[in-house]
Amino acid sequence: MEELESKINSCTNLDELELIRVEIFGKKGVLSKEFAKLKDIPAKEKKDFAKSLNDKKVALNEVFEKHKNKLEKIALEAKLESEKIDVSLYGYEANKGALHPVKDMMDRIIDYFVALNFSVESGPLVENDFNNFEALNLPKNHPAREMQDTFFFGDGRMLRTHTSPVQIRTMLDSKPPIRMIAPGAVFRRDYDLTHTPMFHQIEGLVVGEKGEVSFANLKAILTDFLHHMFGDVDVRFRPSFFPFTEPSAEVDISCMFCKGKGCKVCSHTGWLEVLGSGVVDPNVFKAVGYEDVSGYAFGLGIERFAMLLHGVPDLRSLFDGDIRLLEQFR
Ligand code: PHE
Repeated sequence: MEELESKINSCTNLDELELIRVEIFGKKGVLSKEFAKLKDIPAKEKKDFAKSLNDKKVALNEVFEKHKNKLEKIALEAKLESEKIDVSLYGYEANKGALHPVKDMMDRIIDYFVALNFSVESGPLVENDFNNFEALNLPKNHPAREMQDTFFFGDGRMLRTHTSPVQIRTMLDSKPPIRMIAPGAVFRRDYDLTHTPMFHQIEGLVVGEKGEVSFANLKAILTDFLHHMFGDVDVRFRPSFFPFTEPSAEVDISCMFCKGKGCKVCSHTGWLEVLGSGVVDPNVFKAVGYEDVSGYAFGLGIERFAMLLHGVPDLRSLFDGDIRLLEQFR
């Protein structure tokens, strides 16, 4: 009896204990063998023998259950220890994304004009000849079309070469006064350091009653806008030509890289061209059926702004999708 007890208590894990259980309590175990002797015991001794054997069994079972509980507790503690998590440890840093610099610049420009009560309009990338050229006073065979060579579909439609067709769409859809911008992708047959076949523009158009909207208004808003974007730069309006505006002006800022002294970025002129603008040509209003109105319009390249403000030397790198460039804009 004592021998069996110490056998149970010497088990150090549950597997060992299970073997002992079979050895003692199993069908062919020590106790079964003892009980088997009953049949050879004389009848009057049977009762006492059975009772003492049963007491033995109960006592052994108690010892067994006690030790089993102890071993189970040890096993559970070992398991908990091995699965312990230190919740105060730092985790892995989540991979933070960022807006693409072109999208970010677009948002910044939109924010400026929305704050001045401009609506944000949009139009399709595939345009018809009327909206992209004809209504903008760019008749067939006009030499200015050459500068805006694009991808044609053969049925008269094309990938829009500028956001100006959204001016036409908006005027055809609504009555003056109009105060809108139109951001979006445009397409031209160009590919070099400063040109990609797809790039983004923001168009602006303001239309009011005749005499209400003037070149002076255009000058004021664009000067403020450029100071807002580029800080303390000089702004100059240089006479230019666009078929859909008259008079027209290209707008330059003093080169922020050389402070106007002349460098590679500004081709040693001290000035950077950043905008096209002008007073809306009467032929454009005629094309959309507007009478007795006046207005101004402007257009700018968003990538150009991003390149200048972030010092990106090659426009094409903005579209390479190279994570090393994009990571710098987090
Ligand atoms: N659409 C012109 C371009 O793409 C820019 C522009 C817009 C100029 C509006 C004047 C007025 O170059």
